Amino acid sequence: MQYIKDYTIKDVQDVYDGPGGLLWEAVMSEEIHSGGPATTDFLANKLGLQKGLNVCDICSALGAPARHIAAKYGVMVKGVDATKTMLEKARQRTKDAKLENMIEYFEANAMDLPFKKDTFDIVWGQEAWCYVSDKNRLIQEAYRVLKPGGKMGFSDWIITGKISPQELDPLYDSMAFPYMETFKGYQELLKKNGFKLIEALDQTDEFAKCFDEYSETVNVKLKPTILQNFGQDLFSFASNLVAIWQKAAHEHKVGRGLYIAQK
Ligand SMILES: C[S@@+](CC[C@H](N)C(=O)[O-])C[C@H]1O[C@@H](n2cnc3c(N)ncnc32)[C@H](O)[C@@H]1O
Repeated sequence: MQYIKDYTIKDVQDVYDGPGGLLWEAVMSEEIHSGGPATTDFLANKLGLQKGLNVCDICSALGAPARHIAAKYGVMVKGVDATKTMLEKARQRTKDAKLENMIEYFEANAMDLPFKKDTFDIVWGQEAWCYVSDKNRLIQEAYRVLKPGGKMGFSDWIITGKISPQELDPLYDSMAFPYMETFKGYQELLKKNGFKLIEALDQTDEFAKCFDEYSETVNVKLKPTILQNFGQDLFSFASNLVAIWQKAAHEHKVGRGLYIAQK
């Protein structure tokens, strides 16, 4: 039985409209996912991104991956996010990068995409679907907006080992996650909703190493800045968050999964 908490999109918006968004950018970089731009290139290569393809980035946040793939691979991107502050920053930074002719952002819930069926060559997602309260619905939406033969590639924070609800509780509370899929769970969801699964990678070891870096970043490099700008409470929160995820990742209980599938 899946352990589910009642975090909603409103809780996620509160995180990313508030200091949480700034903190995540400071710790993880403008591409708010573990491994940074290198993991974006990894996913881009797995999907064979090339000039002119239409990409839908579900949960596009600050738009840094959208700008990265538009500038480097020549793809046209539509980013979807539910948080106003992230969308405002994404639009401004995209304008500053002179990429607004290649990228457009939409305010919407990932479970209800504002696009017609068979619109995109590629559906893309990086480390955000863990916030979505109905991942079956999200996968259905992704399938609907993909063209027949189109590919979906995404990475996400997932459950990769044996872990109890008691152990998941503080992890979910620290992030406002309703639940995480398991490594196998996503594979089943993809197949159940009509996708052909091409590849599923358990990248927990890399994920754990990223948390070693985040621990150093939060507790040493950024400590004075976090204390000065956000205060002791947020510093303690961030330090504890990194510690519990670092431990669970090294125990191979939680980690990162990467999936490539085709409609
Ligand atoms: C970790 S960030 C995403 C990082 C981004 N993919 C990247 O790699 O830079 C999480 C983002 O997901 C968005 N988000 C979470 N749940 C969502 C939902 N149900 N619908 C749309 N956006 C959502 C948040 O607003 C936030 O901007």
